[in-house]
Amino acid sequence: MKLGVFDSGLGGLTIVKTMLESLQGVDMIYIADTKNAPYGEKGAQQIIDFSTKITDYFIDKFDIDALVIACNTATSAAIKELREKYKNLIIIGTEPGLKPAISHSQSKKVGVLATPATLNGAKYILLRDELSKQYKVDVFEQACPGLVQQIELGEIDSPKTISMLESWLAPMREAGVDTIVLGCTHYPLVGESIKKVMQRDVSLIETSNAITKRVKELCGNDLNKTTDNSLKIFATGDINENMIEMILAQKHKAIQIKI
Ligand code: DGL
Repeated sequence: MKLGVFDSGLGGLTIVKTMLESLQGVDMIYIADTKNAPYGEKGAQQIIDFSTKITDYFIDKFDIDALVIACNTATSAAIKELREKYKNLIIIGTEPGLKPAISHSQSKKVGVLATPATLNGAKYILLRDELSKQYKVDVFEQACPGLVQQIELGEIDSPKTISMLESWLAPMREAGVDTIVLGCTHYPLVGESIKKVMQRDVSLIETSNAITKRVKELCGNDLNKTTDNSLKIFATGDINENMIEMILAQKHKAIQIKI
């Protein structure tokens, strides 16, 4: 079973980690499109073009069986186009876990941290409006421009990152938000810093388990229960290998590619 996984950078490795722990017999091929990162501050058509090129590369070079878009921003901008173009490919996307966050929140005040592009996505806006009305929940949204770059640099708790988080999270803290959706796959990497800045027992909702479950459901018959997983990491630009090791708890040499 060959699984292509991509993100603009390191963030999607938070999903790869969960998949490596829970699946068996999968050859994972990961592309970090660091040359074009961050996606979240780009236009939808550009993100569709990046995602299409990466998917073509996966198909031409590896003949993948399924694709995981390990990026909320690329899912929001491009999953529809990718599903139309690659009709025979299983495509699994990543979306902010708004529904689980709403059912989890006791204070009925939920925060959503995501990239500007994800928060502007039509599907997300529709879901937010529907759910917040249905469950009478206040949703506090915050775009975090610049946070992905800090994480790529490995600055997960540097003074600059903490001060960015402080400015975004203070209104949520004051309003009594008790549950925060991490609507970008990079953000679990600053989960501890978010908790520190919130100064309360806040629940952070990310979706790597849900995605892994979906891979099992859709690819169940192709998964070989007796063989080990493998992982190859490719990057279109520079990548911080210390961060790869920190996320996966194992060393990986990223191979440079041109797409
Ligand atoms: N990790 C990504 C996401 O989930 C991409 C962030 C970015 O490149 O701006 O949205």
